[in-house]
Amino acid sequence: MTGLSASERQAALEKILTPARIVPVLTIDRVEDGVPLARALVAGGVKVLEVTFRTEAGAAAAKAIIAEVPEAVVGIGTVLNADDLERAKALGARFAVSPGATPELLNAAATSDLPLLPGVATASEVMQSLAKGFSLLKFFPAEQAGAIPMLRALAGPFPNTRFCPTGGIGAANAAMWLAEPNVMCVGGSWLCPASDIKAANWEVITGRCIDAMKHLRRR
Ligand code: 3PG
Repeated sequence: MTGLSASERQAALEKILTPARIVPVLTIDRVEDGVPLARALVAGGVKVLEVTFRTEAGAAAAKAIIAEVPEAVVGIGTVLNADDLERAKALGARFAVSPGATPELLNAAATSDLPLLPGVATASEVMQSLAKGFSLLKFFPAEQAGAIPMLRALAGPFPNTRFCPTGGIGAANAAMWLAEPNVMCVGGSWLCPASDIKAANWEVITGRCIDAMKHLRRR
């Protein structure tokens, strides 16, 4: 059971995500890549990381990053159900992210101390999330599900929700998304593509982060 209220969990999540501006989505195939990748991102000024459960190595890599890269603020992504949420919490993650918002996951997160960023792409999913106390949402897949016009349309009936769009976001459009008043941060894999991770191009990743952060001025 939880010791935190829904609003305390939301406040904790907002405090992590809003100043982050960009949250890289990490897909790690080899456990040993986790720590150098996290160090490369942190060296580029990108400290809030979403390590996904979509590979077998994900959980062990997240564990190693949490233990060895204290500057990183590690969340777990691709959390699909209550078991995943529990596993994320046991690893010591600071937050969890889901591509969707099933009743099972929302119910589990409503009684967990681990803040969850549920994923939505429709008005009904926003309504289901709000009904369970979640007003900070991932808009996924952002570019494919209507992009900025869709997010503007959602701001009408849902003026108190804030979003982290992910899916199709990169260097060319991140600033446009961040300029939207209901966007708190953006996420995506563009800072650390699979090819750079595979080739251990850590300096390239750091350089890309420095560039990205330079261009995304804080509001
Ligand atoms: C996510 O889970 O947020 C997406 O896979 C990120 O999408 P991208 O690879 O298009 O950035």
